Amino acid sequence: MGPFRALRIHKDTGGAMHAVLESLTLDDLSSGEVVIRGRYSSVNYKDALAATGKGRIMRRFPLVAGVDVAGEVISSMDNRFQAGDQVLVTGCGLGESHDGGFSEVVRVPADWVVPLPQGMTLFDAMVLGTAGFTAALAIDRMEQNGLVPGQGPVVVTGATGGVGSVAIDLLSGRGYEVIALTRKLEAADYLKLLGAADVLDAKTATDSGKPLEAVRWAGAIDSVGGEVLGWLTRTLQPWGSIASIGLAGGSELHTTVMPFILRGVSILGITSANCPMQRRIKIWERLVTDLQPQHLASIIAGQVTLEELSDVFATVLSGRHHGRYIVDLQ
Ligand SMILES: NC(=O)c1ccc[n+]([C@@H]2O[C@H](COP(=O)([O-])OP(=O)(O)OC[C@H]3O[C@@H](n4cnc5c(N)ncnc54)[C@H](OP(=O)(O)O)[C@@H]3O)[C@@H](O)[C@H]2O)c1
Repeated sequence: MGPFRALRIHKDTGGAMHAVLESLTLDDLSSGEVVIRGRYSSVNYKDALAATGKGRIMRRFPLVAGVDVAGEVISSMDNRFQAGDQVLVTGCGLGESHDGGFSEVVRVPADWVVPLPQGMTLFDAMVLGTAGFTAALAIDRMEQNGLVPGQGPVVVTGATGGVGSVAIDLLSGRGYEVIALTRKLEAADYLKLLGAADVLDAKTATDSGKPLEAVRWAGAIDSVGGEVLGWLTRTLQPWGSIASIGLAGGSELHTTVMPFILRGVSILGITSANCPMQRRIKIWERLVTDLQPQHLASIIAGQVTLEELSDVFATVLSGRHHGRYIVDLQ
């Protein structure tokens, strides 16, 4: 195979990170049984943290960035996959400890590879990407914990982000009353188009100093963490669950045990990167059946090439965008 292009992150002796679009060969990539021609990838918050060095995500350097990829198998040493199969990979160490998805060619262990669900395109798989998969995983876990439509509103925080946008779309499609919590009230029309019944100012989620407040939510999907997550614990209905996904607003959690011992509130930890394969496949199958998104086209913030990719990281970290950036790898 001839050389191909990839966005590789280098760390200089002073500790600064540099994203460089390079020409690589297969020998430069981490090992694995399956070689994939990358067709699309996407930009997650984690990718922006990794590529800029704002977060300590990458475990070695140089490393190709990108936690997601969807494409076609070029060759496989594992008989579960054949040349020509359409597949996707999210998380599992891609773009963290293993060369990632911002590359025209990606090589991974066969155990990480998910067959593209029937009825889904490679493009849509990456509009969803890690963000969409994680939103679906959160809903799956909350439903396992007893959540059904009709119990009361479900609040989605960091609503205009990738996880938030897909979560609103999936929840509303499934019949939940969804309330979007955002810092960007000017995006209310976008959030309502995705299915939010109402839009709340993120400033609502401040610390009252009380261990419990009036109950409001049957469930919550939280990408923000920090003060917002503390507020969710105090305002959830008895027996409700919070899916804790992210830390866009902070990694700390200040609360008391009162929501847990007096209201039976649960915080469900959501981790997509190391989700076991059986559950991973179940979630991707749900995304073409009972959790099928309805508004994916509206969630696309933009489509970029490998050349344009570096410009997007700062936008994503600033939180100014809404929705998801898709990377066209070819
Ligand atoms: N656990 C997992 O497996 C997993 C998987 C995917 C993502 N994540 C995490 O989930 C979070 C969201 O990921 P994403 O890809 O959806 O990111 P994203 O597209 O950048 O969205 C994050 C959203 O959070 C809000 N936000 C950003 N900065 C904030 C701040 N300083 N304070 C309060 N709110 C802020 C913004 O929404 P508004 O302006 O609308 O409020 C922003 O759009 C990240 O922390 C990411 O690392 C975790």
